[in-house]
Amino acid sequence: MNILLIGSGAREHALAAKIAASPLCDHLFIAPGNPGTAECGTNLACDPKDHGAIVALCKERAIDLAVIGPEAPLVAGIVDDLENAGIAAFGPSRAAAQIEGSKVFTKELCRDAGIPTAAFGRFTEAAAAKAHLAKLSPPMVIKADGLAAGKGVVIANTLGEAEATIDDMLGGRFGTSSAEIVIEEFLEGEEASLFALCDGTSALPFGTAQDHKRAFDGDEGPNTGGMGAFSPAVVLDDPMVEKVLDRIVKPTLATLEKRGSPFRGFLYAGLMITREGPKLIEYNCRFGDPECQVVMPRLVTDLVTAMLAARDGMLGKFSLRFSPKKCVGVVLATKGYPGEFARGSVIQGIEAASRIEGVTVFQAGTKHHGASLVADGGRVLTIVGQGESFAEAHRRAYAGVAAIDWPGGFHRNDIGERALARSVSMSARSGEEQEPDLNPR
Ligand code: AMP
Ligand code: GLY
Repeated sequence: MNILLIGSGAREHALAAKIAASPLCDHLFIAPGNPGTAECGTNLACDPKDHGAIVALCKERAIDLAVIGPEAPLVAGIVDDLENAGIAAFGPSRAAAQIEGSKVFTKELCRDAGIPTAAFGRFTEAAAAKAHLAKLSPPMVIKADGLAAGKGVVIANTLGEAEATIDDMLGGRFGTSSAEIVIEEFLEGEEASLFALCDGTSALPFGTAQDHKRAFDGDEGPNTGGMGAFSPAVVLDDPMVEKVLDRIVKPTLATLEKRGSPFRGFLYAGLMITREGPKLIEYNCRFGDPECQVVMPRLVTDLVTAMLAARDGMLGKFSLRFSPKKCVGVVLATKGYPGEFARGSVIQGIEAASRIEGVTVFQAGTKHHGASLVADGGRVLTIVGQGESFAEAHRRAYAGVAAIDWPGGFHRNDIGERALARSVSMSARSGEEQEPDLNPR
């Protein structure tokens, strides 16, 4: 098969590595890709926003399957445009991608289907939104309805901050994406993500992970797209995964199917594990980044076969296997990210890091400049360590980080510590050296 992968991040590098390893893949093309994906296939300069150009490229290269990594083209309906042109595509339709494209859509779906989530109100007028704040106490959660490149959520610690956020968002901070806002109850608990491979009717759990969203150690600093992750999620043991599937994922799929917009592709459930059980924070209509980089290396089943089964509605007869190994992924970002940052600083040591046993380097914001590899984005690399235990995975990931020579970058030093702390306390209790298998998913 000829396969086209759309996207250019480290998530796409992790997907590209798995697709290229499939016995079904004759040739992999990536549009636009990055220097890392170029090692897995052929990068093609094509803008995913230009659906006509993507369709033309698929015809020209005789593409049998298109796989879409990021949310923006999905929400813009690229799967509909490809399928209408006779090209098989893996990912949700425009209508199903609304689950990420509109917070209001998802909150109302949860209400209709009885899915546990934070109580909410939706507003287009600042006066009504501010009046609603009187019913809440800080922290208050304010969200732009539409896509805002991961910046559309504000957790306000004071009433003043909440009111200013309302004015800012409804005043056009994110254009039409914040013409409507959602104000939510603040959920307390531990955050985790569950991924499900969906074919419109059936959902198969596809790994779990915990992300580190703040820029600096100890969960300090501004929110980012994710500074590191580990898999599996320690708070999502098997009984909790079952609860999430039964109470959240399955009713969501059933509701979307009933409405005539079945969800096919990777469904990403962002969860808060509260004292009352798991609650949905948000859905994404694609794999997470950096979560993909820590889940994909654990997948044993052939990814292309699995994606085809999902696209063809055949998951009812399918099963997935994951390695019980653990993964810890540390993101290296350009100094200044998520704010202003410079481009063009030289990165060395990727080959040395990749030679360390159990270490994989995924590239995102990199580009070639003459004979050098230089930084060309905010999040630039994800260094993943894989091991029999979280301790081993963590050690390997940070050995990989130490092998990278990039003065222009920074990283967090505490990725995966929560998983380490749990496993150390569990082995201390059981008096064993060996870490228990917390969750093969
Ligand atoms: P989102 O972009 O919806 O993932 O939100 C960004 C982050 O804000 C989440 O990862 C949570 O850490 C936090 N968050 C969002 N909604 C809530 C909520 N209702 N209660 C507590 N934290 C939240
Ligand atoms: N890591 C968060 C996301 O992919 O949205």
